[in-house]
Amino acid sequence: MQALALILSIFSGLLARADYRGEQLYRNCTICHGPDGQGIELQLAPALTNLSEKYLVEQLKKFKSGMRGAHAEDLAGLRMLPMSQTLATEEDMIAVSQYIVSLGSSPIEPTLEGGDPVKGQATYATCLACHGPDGKGNDLLNAPSLINQHDWYQLTQLKNFKSGVRGSNPQDIAGAQMRPMSMLLADEQMMKDVIAYIQTLDQ
Ligand code: HEC
Ligand code: HEC
Repeated sequence: MQALALILSIFSGLLARADYRGEQLYRNCTICHGPDGQGIELQLAPALTNLSEKYLVEQLKKFKSGMRGAHAEDLAGLRMLPMSQTLATEEDMIAVSQYIVSLGSSPIEPTLEGGDPVKGQATYATCLACHGPDGKGNDLLNAPSLINQHDWYQLTQLKNFKSGVRGSNPQDIAGAQMRPMSMLLADEQMMKDVIAYIQTLDQ
């Protein structure tokens, strides 16, 4: 029994240390993503708390390798890329991502005007196979959650996928799945409409 208690206490000690590591690493992120992980528009930094651990780690790897955020026209990505370099190992990426997930997600104030959620719902029929009817994403398909995210960030991402600023690196397999979907969105109005519908899924 004593041996078991000892093993358990070492194990929970290790878990607590991993938690602490994540919290410590996240201090480098707060200036742009906020202490609560909800994002800061002035910094062009999105909310992170809506995202799964797997997606967070994948994106951090992409920034670090330059698969995302290295395009000359990717103003926001170029801000994030050097930050990903502060995470030395995959363990650090996992620890910071677990800490971010532990912060918990909540709805975000809309900023865009003129989006029609009814038209957007019809468009979203082409998105739900990957992002889910509830917008919560699907880790098996590498598709992130879209709920509780800033509308200005989503508009930029849809434009970036469409123009190839994001997702056109030949090694970016998940990005290559999203790119053709962004091309179905004929113009900015259609993007705003689908984003307005996605906002109705926030919780
Ligand atoms: C200098 C400001 C800045 C700092 C500091 C920063 N980020 Fe970012 N981050 C950004 C910006 C801007 C974007 C949006 C990039 C884009 O539009 O593609 C971003 C995007 C991300 C994304 C992608 C989110 C998504 O929905 O795909 C992740 C994950 C992320 N950051 C994690 C972190 C972590 C973890 C840290 C700390 C180690 C950090 N960031 C520090 C500015 C920053
Ligand atoms: C075939 C599957 C698939 C479909 C269908 C799809 N997506 Fe995606 N989407 C993805 C994947 C995979 C990613 C992540 C790409 C990456 O890793 O950079 C993504 C990323 C995104 C992002 C960026 C999220 C973030 O946090 O940075 C937005 C916004 C988005 N999709 C919106 C849409 C919309 C709107 C539609 C419908 C018009 C749609 N997607 C249809 C697979 C899909």
